[in-house]
Amino acid sequence: MLIRETNMATIYDSILEHHEDLKNLMKELTSTRTPTDVREKVFKDFAASLEAHAGAEERFFYSPILMHDEGLEKARHGAYEHEEAHDLIEDMKKLDPKGKAFMTKAKKVTKEVRHHMEEEEKEIFKTSKKVLSDSEVKKLNEQYVSDFIRLQKKYAKKG
Ligand SMILES: [Fe+2]
Ligand SMILES: [Fe+2]
Repeated sequence: MLIRETNMATIYDSILEHHEDLKNLMKELTSTRTPTDVREKVFKDFAASLEAHAGAEERFFYSPILMHDEGLEKARHGAYEHEEAHDLIEDMKKLDPKGKAFMTKAKKVTKEVRHHMEEEEKEIFKTSKKVLSDSEVKKLNEQYVSDFIRLQKKYAKKG
C-alpha cells in the first residue's frame, strides 16, 4: 500500500505522518512472515513512497532551510542520506526479492532510513523551527503535500 496523502496543518505533522507510514512499510518489508510475492509489492510501494517523500522534502523543507547559514550543514547532511537510501533502493531493484542479498539490503536501508528520520525529527526540526516562520511552514506544507502526491503517483506508475 502506498502511504497516506496527508492532510495535516503543518509540514512537521505531514513529515511525521509520512515517517510513521514508511516505518510500517519497512516493518512489513523486513518481516520474515511477509510472503515473497507480497514482499515484492511492499518493496515497490516503499520505493515509490520513500523517493516521493525525500524529493518533496528536499524541495520544500531542506531547500528553504539551507538558505539560512544555520541550516546549511544540516540540510546538506540530510540530502546526503537521501542519496544513500536512493542508491540502496536502486541496488535492490536489481536483486531477486526472494534472495538473501535482497533481505540484507532491505535491513540495511531500514536501519539507515530509521536513523535518518530520527535525526530529521530531532536535529533538523530544531533548526527549522528557528529559521522558518509560521506562515512559511504553512505554505511549505501545502507545497510539500502536493508535490509528494504527484511524485508518489509518478514513481508508483514507473515501478
Ligand atoms: Fe528525509
Ligand atoms: Fe523525512
